[in-house]
Amino acid sequence: MVRRLEPVRWLRGTVSLPGDKSISHRMAMLAAIAEGETFIAGYSESADCAATLDCLRRLGVRCQRTATGVCITGVGKRGLRPASGTLDAANSGTTIRLLSGVLAGQPFETHITGDASLRRRPMRRIIEPLRQMGATISAVDDNLAPLTIRGGNLQGITYEVTVPSAQVKSCLLLAGLFASGQTTVIEPMPTRDHTERLLGAFGAPVASHGLAHTIVGSCQLESPGPLSVPGDFSAAAFWLAAGLMVESAELVIEGVGLNPTRTGLLTALHEAGCAIEVINKRTVGGEPVGDLCVNALTPRPSKLLRLEGALTANAIDEIPILAVLGSYFHGLEVTDAGELRVKESDRLALVARNLRAMGVEVEERTDGLKVPGGQRFRGASLETGGDHRIAMAFAIAALVAEGPTLLDDAACVGISFPTFFTVLEQLQS
Ligand code: S3P
Repeated sequence: MVRRLEPVRWLRGTVSLPGDKSISHRMAMLAAIAEGETFIAGYSESADCAATLDCLRRLGVRCQRTATGVCITGVGKRGLRPASGTLDAANSGTTIRLLSGVLAGQPFETHITGDASLRRRPMRRIIEPLRQMGATISAVDDNLAPLTIRGGNLQGITYEVTVPSAQVKSCLLLAGLFASGQTTVIEPMPTRDHTERLLGAFGAPVASHGLAHTIVGSCQLESPGPLSVPGDFSAAAFWLAAGLMVESAELVIEGVGLNPTRTGLLTALHEAGCAIEVINKRTVGGEPVGDLCVNALTPRPSKLLRLEGALTANAIDEIPILAVLGSYFHGLEVTDAGELRVKESDRLALVARNLRAMGVEVEERTDGLKVPGGQRFRGASLETGGDHRIAMAFAIAALVAEGPTLLDDAACVGISFPTFFTVLEQLQS
């Protein structure tokens, strides 16, 4: 579906976000293998999180959607059943990588695959350690989905992950639940810690010492009772950017998850002189939450946005929108972002190509981007690559461009934020 976007002069109102995608996946998977029933309020309406529920249903778990969330009837650690046919993780890296950890613990064989984009993404990073734990896994070129996983009889290991990846860490912690002894995952730098927080809530505490996270296989999981999902920070990032760039904007973004392992965009903005006001700070689902305000009084970035190392890992999903922000204000330099080449698309290449199409100068590097500041966007025909974050980042750039912009496939926003364009219309009415 091609979508035409016109520049706007103002944006006003309150933004409601989808439930956090990362947290929704994890709550559903843990609820499925826990004892008891878990109602998850605000479960993400995204296609990715629907894929997780679909896979869980195929493994014999009852997942009932309601108007406000999803109710999951846990089958306990030993209760999953072999699926007939192949599980489909669709576009979702989190579904395939985290679920593979659970499947590695099951005494039966499962086939799992995904769409063309997911089938291009590297799986060796989970295959290798899961094999070391005792699972039998086959994959295309020993790296790509479809995967066939035959699990059971896992042994705990200590494993040093070489890429900063919460999906790999989480996969191994989930497999560790089914292993004898202890499983320790050592990561190269901190990544989002939702799995660790939730495992604790379900009665399987993770002991974290710096970058090492240990889980004991013998513990049982029990439903903690009803849970609520905070709003998705990665979805909020697009409206924050819009609020900063559109001349007359007055936005309150409500109920935003502010887990410090996710808010690198706020840190990068802050370091560039742009402090975003946070009000109504509270805790939801064991995670810090607040409302973000952007208006005429919000200071704009007055320096280069610079991201490297741990800050890049922390803001990994926000690099496309940060590149848009950087080109508009005082530039962006991001390094250590090679992982962006193996996301839903090659995000470094697509960001560079689309910025150039809009008349913006950009240097694409092997592991990052450098964009000079003070540039203005020219409306253009853009390629999303079916990647939701590329589509949304450039939909926001289009709001401050000169002339109309065409996005070749805008429907892909449904991967994480199905109401994105409805929100845009509401903020304009
Ligand atoms: C996610 C981890 C990140 C992130 C993805 C969601 C998660 O991926 O990019 O959108 O839910 O654990 P990696 O673990 O591959 O860095």
